[in-house]
Amino acid sequence: MNNAFPKNFLWGGAVAAHQVEGGWNRDGKGPSVVDVLSGGAVDKDRIITDGVKSDTFYPNHEAIDFHGNFKEDIALFAEMGFKCFRTSIAWTRIFPQGDEIEPNEFGLQFYDDLFDELLKYGIEPVITLSHFEMPNHLVKEYGGWRSRKVIDFFVHYAETVMKRYKGKVKYWMTFNEINNQKNYSYPLFGYTCSGVVFNDDDKPEQTMYQVVHHQLVASAKVVKLGHQINPAFKIGCMIGFIPIYPYSCAPDDILFANQSMRDRFLFSDVHMRGEYPSYIEAEWAAKGYHIEMDPSDKQTLKEGCCDYVGLSYYMSVAVSATNKGESKGLTGFPGSLPNPHVKASDWGWQIDPVGLRYSLNMLHERYQKPLFIVENGFGAVDTVEADGSINDDYRIGYLEAHIREMKKAVVEDGVDLIGYTPWGCIDCVSFTTGEYKKRYGFIYVNKHDDGSGDMSRSKKKSFDWYKGIIESNGESM
Ligand code: BG6
Repeated sequence: MNNAFPKNFLWGGAVAAHQVEGGWNRDGKGPSVVDVLSGGAVDKDRIITDGVKSDTFYPNHEAIDFHGNFKEDIALFAEMGFKCFRTSIAWTRIFPQGDEIEPNEFGLQFYDDLFDELLKYGIEPVITLSHFEMPNHLVKEYGGWRSRKVIDFFVHYAETVMKRYKGKVKYWMTFNEINNQKNYSYPLFGYTCSGVVFNDDDKPEQTMYQVVHHQLVASAKVVKLGHQINPAFKIGCMIGFIPIYPYSCAPDDILFANQSMRDRFLFSDVHMRGEYPSYIEAEWAAKGYHIEMDPSDKQTLKEGCCDYVGLSYYMSVAVSATNKGESKGLTGFPGSLPNPHVKASDWGWQIDPVGLRYSLNMLHERYQKPLFIVENGFGAVDTVEADGSINDDYRIGYLEAHIREMKKAVVEDGVDLIGYTPWGCIDCVSFTTGEYKKRYGFIYVNKHDDGSGDMSRSKKKSFDWYKGIIESNGESM
């Protein structure tokens, strides 16, 4: 039995353009949906403002200035031995408003430079086409993904970058955590996934399914087109994968947990199998929902199945049928109760390494296609000691426990896993709270929520630890 990770396993790190780049209006970049999101905190929601306001602080505008500093940052990734680096292309650097015909050459050149720098060190770029970065103009003019027209704008954008970088990028993903918007009662998710703000005439859940349909069709078109542009492309979907456990062995809890998992599987089922599952058609019929579809959509979905499942994994949740109800806030899932068997981070994310092995097995058994863990990590407050060191043993502990379970999935369970890119390999702006203080990185960035800090970079203890993991192909734990 092979008892190690495959030799070509893609160890690396992950970020998203909007959480690191900064330069939000540099070189012709247009405002995206995150450029109108204020900062927040664990107990304070981020506010969506109507355009950019002079009296609001927008953390993503400056982020960690990866746009101006990528060469130095990539040198550090190379020092850790990264085999790959996941980031996204900021759609609004290429098409500032989203509905233009001609792309912005400055934006295209930036990603040429970025990819060349990665390739110089033998680091494979892994690229998300849309990581919560749709042009805000498309929200204002077209209502975001409510409009079918956005399918064409997205396909045009994807075609432009896939043609431009066809010799530099092999691994792509279409929509980051497309399933977040299933939590339609928390405004951040609909806005960042699809540019949707619900109005009084909406049935929010039905509207959510409609915009998701447009995205699934767009994704399928892009997968087909990408394979025509370069048959060697590997194009994945990306699911925010939070396994939902039954709180008890009561049959009602088991069934409810199983039904709740459809909040994840609906998305990956369509991406991977090219058709809507019967459970969603039954749900739409029972609720009287009508989702507008073009007669050609069925065929489009069939022809655009993804090559692999990209997933993020941070936590698990447990649900009880006796606690059913609406989603509550950011980490509230319908029916969820704190799981007494696991601990949680300061942000309430339940820490469950075994849940990662469980998730990998579920996805492997369901699709029989390669899996790629494109996010996993521990958001925590770091302390800089008097000598400048940062002893983030809690992060090492979290990651090591997850890597152990990931290895069991590969070695003992035979899961086809192609890579692992821990989230926020360099500190960046938190997505859900907009904070700097929720840090994930192996590299510390001296920047704080009060605006202070000189953006200097320094290595945390986890930097050398992760370097050792990569060097030994996961054997140094
Ligand atoms: C995922 C997103 O939801 O989780 C990332 O794809 C995000 O963009 C990450 O940053 C961690 O979330 P947060 O809120 O801790 O930054």
